[in-house]
Amino acid sequence: MPTMPIILYPSKILRVVSTTIKDYKPKAYSALIESMIETMVANKGIGLAAAQIGKNIRLIIVQTKEGALPLINPKILFESWKKETSEEGCLSIPKVFGLVKRSRAIKVSAINREGDKIEFRAEGLFARVILHEIDHINGALFIDKAKKITSGKEYLKQYDGEK
Ligand code: CO
Repeated sequence: MPTMPIILYPSKILRVVSTTIKDYKPKAYSALIESMIETMVANKGIGLAAAQIGKNIRLIIVQTKEGALPLINPKILFESWKKETSEEGCLSIPKVFGLVKRSRAIKVSAINREGDKIEFRAEGLFARVILHEIDHINGALFIDKAKKITSGKEYLKQYDGEK
């Protein structure tokens, strides 16, 4: 499958709460997952939610040191009380960056690519990317949470049609 076009802000597709994948089967989703990974890599992203390619289902891809990690129906089981503020961007909101405060560490459950239930801990940038992508499948964007837009404010203004 080739790469897919990325849905851009302020599309309403990015505001939909994505549905749970009830009958995950590796074979049925492998082409979509491959295509999402290719799309993420081609756009130099470190995470991608299915909503961003126009599919409102609870599937995200997160880049890790070991490669792209697909997570199906990811859930946050625990968020650390300790927060960290760092700069974020989003493939759906090109050229815009902002400071977002998020938990430093999280515990996540999900179904992995093979269809197994997994639970793991993530911290730092890895945790941040997972939280950012889970926001996507809940219809939320980093600009909703950013306490400061550090660059690209002029691009956001262009899109003031949303809301
Ligand atoms: Co994003």
